[in-house]
Amino acid sequence: MYVREYRLVRQTDQPVSDTVTGMEIEMRCEFTIRRGELNDLPELKKLFVDTITSICKADYDADQIDAWISDTKSGANRQSWYDMIINQFVLVAQYGIKIVGFATLDDGNHIDLFYVHKDHQRQGIASRLYVGLENEARRQHQTILTADISKTARRFFITPKFNVLAEQVVNRKGVDLINYKMIKSIDNNQTASNQD
Ligand SMILES: CC(C)(COP(=O)(O)OP(=O)(O)OC[C@H]1O[C@@H](n2cnc3c(N)ncnc32)[C@H](O)[C@@H]1OP(=O)(O)O)[C@@H](O)C(=O)NCCC(=O)NCCS
Repeated sequence: MYVREYRLVRQTDQPVSDTVTGMEIEMRCEFTIRRGELNDLPELKKLFVDTITSICKADYDADQIDAWISDTKSGANRQSWYDMIINQFVLVAQYGIKIVGFATLDDGNHIDLFYVHKDHQRQGIASRLYVGLENEARRQHQTILTADISKTARRFFITPKFNVLAEQVVNRKGVDLINYKMIKSIDNNQTASNQD
């Protein structure tokens, strides 16, 4: 399962090169990117809940937040989290021993989960996770990437040039939540970069 580990270290205020992709990326903290494992599940679920309850509350009301995180309560939907880590391409960002973000690719072309730790927002973590997912999609010769993106994450997906296909209303536990069906065409002759 484990493929490779990148080590990204910010030493100056200038953008530096990622030695794996050759891409110039601004890095504001030191973290590594690795494949997710079953052992990560408890920490991933906690990060998911903490991020939604603290970061997404700016865009969703209390009932919507409760419905969104309901899958993680009382062991509910344990199987779907297990299936996610087994069947999807999962990348985890780690700072020391702490997981600071994770992102998952389903069926090679659909971004499913995409969350950064509430205390590590705007440090370039999602950007690095995104490049890892897009490069995996390219490796699989996919031609499009899709995602169902929250209001909160929509602002992030402008930079890698996703387009909104539709606004959607998703019903969870009887509560309506708005998100956006987003899509991006990818060219397999290029390496991923957030400047595409
Ligand atoms: C969306 C999310 C993953 C972004 O993670 P992040 O690590 O903070 O993003 P980055 O630091 O890589 O941001 C890169 C760029 O995206 C844009 N961006 C990211 N978050 C933004 C925000 N809240 N508002 C405006 N622009 C934003 C900016 O251009 C940013 O560059 P800058 O910081 O130099 O201005 C994170 O905010 C998050 O976890 N959100 C809540 C979870 C969620 O809704 N997940 C999606 C489920 S579908």
